[in-house]
Amino acid sequence: MIGISLNVMKTRGEHSFSKLPVFGARLYDWLLFKEPIYDGLREIAHDLVLETAGGNLLDIGTGPGRLLKEINLLNPYLELYGLDISASMIQLARKNLQDIPVNLLSGTIRHTKYENDFFNTITCTGSFYLWDYPEESLEEIYRILKRGHSAYLYEVYKDISENEYQLALKKNLRQLDWIRRILGPLALRKLLNLSYQTEDFSRIIEKTSFAESYTIEKISISGLPMWVRITLNKNPI
Ligand SMILES: C[S@@+](CC[C@H](N)C(=O)[O-])C[C@H]1O[C@@H](n2cnc3c(N)ncnc32)[C@H](O)[C@@H]1O
Repeated sequence: MIGISLNVMKTRGEHSFSKLPVFGARLYDWLLFKEPIYDGLREIAHDLVLETAGGNLLDIGTGPGRLLKEINLLNPYLELYGLDISASMIQLARKNLQDIPVNLLSGTIRHTKYENDFFNTITCTGSFYLWDYPEESLEEIYRILKRGHSAYLYEVYKDISENEYQLALKKNLRQLDWIRRILGPLALRKLLNLSYQTEDFSRIIEKTSFAESYTIEKISISGLPMWVRITLNKNPI
């Protein structure tokens, strides 16, 4: 019993998602599938499509699959893959993506069944901060990424100045209904608390095969300045 509770306490968040009921996945989707929050995913989709000429693209922690849908609208020739530790999220993604060809799988990025050097592009949005084994998971990304290609992680960083983010959030919230105006700041506060400082991202990456070649850029998404885009390059031999 003690062993179990210690184990649960140690998790960064992936454990709760792996047990998420279908209702929880639907609620998550309902809350986020709304302008201007949803515009953020469109911005990320544009960014990714610019970086990806063709081939296989994997979205880790795809959740309800909305990013894959936007990518498909921009470039229907990409072969899309989505992975999520939550079976409920994958069930919902199947429903949301029923009109487009996509390969969806429930499981953790720590160990996957994808072949070596398989993906032209790998991405993840707001999922890395939840992974209990970040270094091992980055090694897995390294294994399944093609040489000469990159992975792009979009995450929030918790050392953003409180003033800067509150100001941007205020503007953003004006466009939302009352329920999202109440829940939005609470969810964002929790996200920031759970996430990493910018230097933590570097500390983790430095322990992996990506240590030789990576960048961390601070960016705004949907007018919110608390994001980083982490580019991890697998160099050609
Ligand atoms: C905050 S949600 C983000 C969902 C989606 N990317 C979005 O932007 O709306 C984080 C997602 O990451 C998934 N996840 C957490 N840990 C994971 C892991 N180790 N492997 C794969 N997916 C994971 C969760 O189940 C959840 O769906």
